[in-house]
Amino acid sequence: MTDSRPIGVFDSGIGGLPIAKKIRELLPNENLIYVADTHYAPYGEKSEDTILQRSLAVTDFLRSQDVKAIVVACNTATMVSIKTLRAEYGEKYDLPFIGVEPGVKPAAIHTKTGVIGVLATEKTLTSHAFDALAKRVAGNAHMEIQPSPKLVRLVENLQLDDDAAVKAVEEYVHPLIEKDADTIILGCTHFAHLAPVIEKVAGDKVSVISTELAVAKEVVRRLKVENLLTTQPDFGTTEFFSNGDLALFQQQIQYLWGIDAQAQRF
Ligand code: DGL
Repeated sequence: MTDSRPIGVFDSGIGGLPIAKKIRELLPNENLIYVADTHYAPYGEKSEDTILQRSLAVTDFLRSQDVKAIVVACNTATMVSIKTLRAEYGEKYDLPFIGVEPGVKPAAIHTKTGVIGVLATEKTLTSHAFDALAKRVAGNAHMEIQPSPKLVRLVENLQLDDDAAVKAVEEYVHPLIEKDADTIILGCTHFAHLAPVIEKVAGDKVSVISTELAVAKEVVRRLKVENLLTTQPDFGTTEFFSNGDLALFQQQIQYLWGIDAQAQRF
């Protein structure tokens, strides 16, 4: 059995691209569809109801593209919506959902000072799902949470290492270091794009934890278990959709993915 239907990946914007890239590396023959719900970004500043409605709407679009699995490549949407997505679509349409959540577990294993800094959206940090995750896996570690809204906007503007990016990263990271954090979680997928700057600002003694590879490995595992992997010998295609400024999206994907990437509207 082979299943060459595409894997859908979505985020509020370009935050999910590093996850899509890892999936592409691990599964070169799979077809991918990436959706940036840019018109409604940033999710981190929206109500839970809006985030849920958008997650459902993007899922409907991806279903219309006949995807075989959906990767919610956004911590905020995962925290707020994945339970409902699984309940409403998962079983009914036999559609696996793979989400992303802040890497609290690896951080708790890694920390020596017992203080973990978490950079994420306000919505993620105040969600019940994040609270439950922390209670479940943080053990004795103390978490210093840091909402970081400026970073999402900087990434969407492709300001990944300019003065404004460094300044904003310093503003969010310095207080965590002052509180003795030796491990910082990138709890928003957008922040993977800023990882080099965050690592530099945090310094050698601090480890920065991000989750793209873990999510991509989970995608492989789920597709294997569900018998959904393709056996097509050719390299897979990647399609990119956005409902925001298409010229900007074109620039973003060409810069972050490759010169051949073509923006489409959804
Ligand atoms: N990339 C998203 C996340 O992982 C959210 C960014 C936003 O739209 O606020 O949480």
